[in-house]
Amino acid sequence: MSNNLTNNSRVKVKVKKGSKSVSSRRWLERQLNDPYVIAAKEDGYRSRSAYKLIELNNKFKFLKKGKTVIDLGAAPGGWSQVVAKIIGLPKNGKLLSIDIQDIMPIEGVYFINGDIMDEDIIETIKNKLQCQVDIVLSDMAPSASGHRNTDQTRALLLAELALDTAKHLLQKDGTFCCKLIRGKGEEELVSSMRSFFSSIKRYKPESSRKNSAEIFLIGLNFNDQNLA
Ligand SMILES: C[S@@+](CC[C@H](N)C(=O)[O-])C[C@H]1O[C@@H](n2cnc3c(N)ncnc32)[C@H](O)[C@@H]1O
Repeated sequence: MSNNLTNNSRVKVKVKKGSKSVSSRRWLERQLNDPYVIAAKEDGYRSRSAYKLIELNNKFKFLKKGKTVIDLGAAPGGWSQVVAKIIGLPKNGKLLSIDIQDIMPIEGVYFINGDIMDEDIIETIKNKLQCQVDIVLSDMAPSASGHRNTDQTRALLLAELALDTAKHLLQKDGTFCCKLIRGKGEEELVSSMRSFFSSIKRYKPESSRKNSAEIFLIGLNFNDQNLA
């Protein structure tokens, strides 16, 4: 990983009066000074989010060579790059990535430009993969409305849909790893996972911004006996 994760020199953005809003200047300044944005550029990752998956996998060790993986909310493709490398694409493993936005191709990765809310999405995934899945990942996030409760509710719905996808596709002992925005519905979601996973962990990677309410839920050792 790039040395820039420890580089402390700070870039300031100067703008002519009236040419940029305060919020866009702040956003630009944050991007330019974010060690994970800088490292992603140097390491060739398409997003800083790649480091979240690297940390999650260092902690829980679910990605391994030859595994079959689904990456929900894959654009622009940072997580898919990490998965592709670890499972050994294009020779070993399978990765199916899904997003409502298009992504630039990654060697060996199947991509569906689709919406997890579509009622046919599970069938579409099954037809494309033709096998059961070892790991379902979700970094899906709704586009920000600026209204905290609305965003949290939408993120919760995406997490519930990701769990539903995992329940349909995971094989025994499979892993589910999903982004969640903390708040209303979190405990209900975790308790609904308890019937299907022998162990459930909550984890916030170092690379997840401190001021963000996001955490990741990890369900280990999927057991389909309680499926309706
Ligand atoms: C934080 S980004 C994912 C970043 C990605 N993990 C990476 O490393 O590049 C969240 C993604 O979720 C996608 N998304 C949001 N709603 C979705 C839905 N209903 N179905 C599929 N993808 C969705 C967005 O289009 C966006 O690309």
